[in-house]
Amino acid sequence: MGKFNSEINVKEWEQLSWYEMLSKLGLKSFNWRGMKTWDEIMELYTFPPKSKILMIGCGVGKSAFYLAEKFDLNVTGIDLAEKSIQIAKETAREKNLEEKVKFQISDAHDLLFNENEFDGVFTEYMAYFLDHPKAFKEFYRVLKPNGHVVFNELMLKPDISEKKLNKIIEAGDSFEEIAGFKLNIPFTSDYKNWCTEFKFEDIKLSPVKNKTNIRDMLELSGGVKNLFKIMRIMLCLYRKSSIIKKKFKIQSKVKWVVFQNRSTAKYIKPTICIARKGD
Ligand SMILES: C[S@@+](CC[C@H](N)C(=O)[O-])C[C@H]1O[C@@H](n2cnc3c(N)ncnc32)[C@H](O)[C@@H]1O
Repeated sequence: MGKFNSEINVKEWEQLSWYEMLSKLGLKSFNWRGMKTWDEIMELYTFPPKSKILMIGCGVGKSAFYLAEKFDLNVTGIDLAEKSIQIAKETAREKNLEEKVKFQISDAHDLLFNENEFDGVFTEYMAYFLDHPKAFKEFYRVLKPNGHVVFNELMLKPDISEKKLNKIIEAGDSFEEIAGFKLNIPFTSDYKNWCTEFKFEDIKLSPVKNKTNIRDMLELSGGVKNLFKIMRIMLCLYRKSSIIKKKFKIQSKVKWVVFQNRSTAKYIKPTICIARKGD
């Protein structure tokens, strides 16, 4: 453990943004409901093989690879986090999927793509960071006529009291200090309203059915061995860096409100929203 600790360059870790740090740690995905959620989505609307998909906020590309390998989709993943994109590109090379799955650094609000380029624009556990009207405008622009937007996201249920909603908003605001953006979870009805406002049609909303299970969670952490490695590095960084310690503390408070404390977490549900751009 002593040798292991001395091998960790704390300064290097401190310079990474929050999501870069988590990607470097070896986390594969933040979608704790697992990859099977994409199977549910394909049941709601089946994208034909070779469809061109833009995956927004792709992280290290776990879902992009799943969609390419299981459904033969051609996926371009974009993210702001350089380290995550670097890891995603390395994985594409290792998997020999560089032709089918591409990655680049790009901002969801200002997409570096032409109009009418994609059959699908997907988001996964990231749309709570967006300036929604700006992003919806961009998603609409890059979609082909009859293309589909898919949000695989956390959404708020409507029957929440003001007090509990304020707790969630407060926790979400504090996330800005670690990630650089507030975590602002919209209501299910917000997605419906934005889709309507931006002229999307055939809007479908569906709660995610697949439940969180240990096997999926281990896979998302890269397996048991990797999970232990992640925990050891985290512990070391926690001890050695007050900057990173503070980030972990804020993150665990947010996690408590959003995922663990039933009194608030029960109002936050993984939900799918799919809508079609008209022809
Ligand atoms: C919670 S992670 C989810 C990553 C991945 N979709 C998953 O489910 O594992 C959110 C990701 O969104 C990215 N992100 C946040 N704002 C973004 C933006 N405006 N444009 C592109 N990516 C963004 C972050 O860098 C981060 O990788």
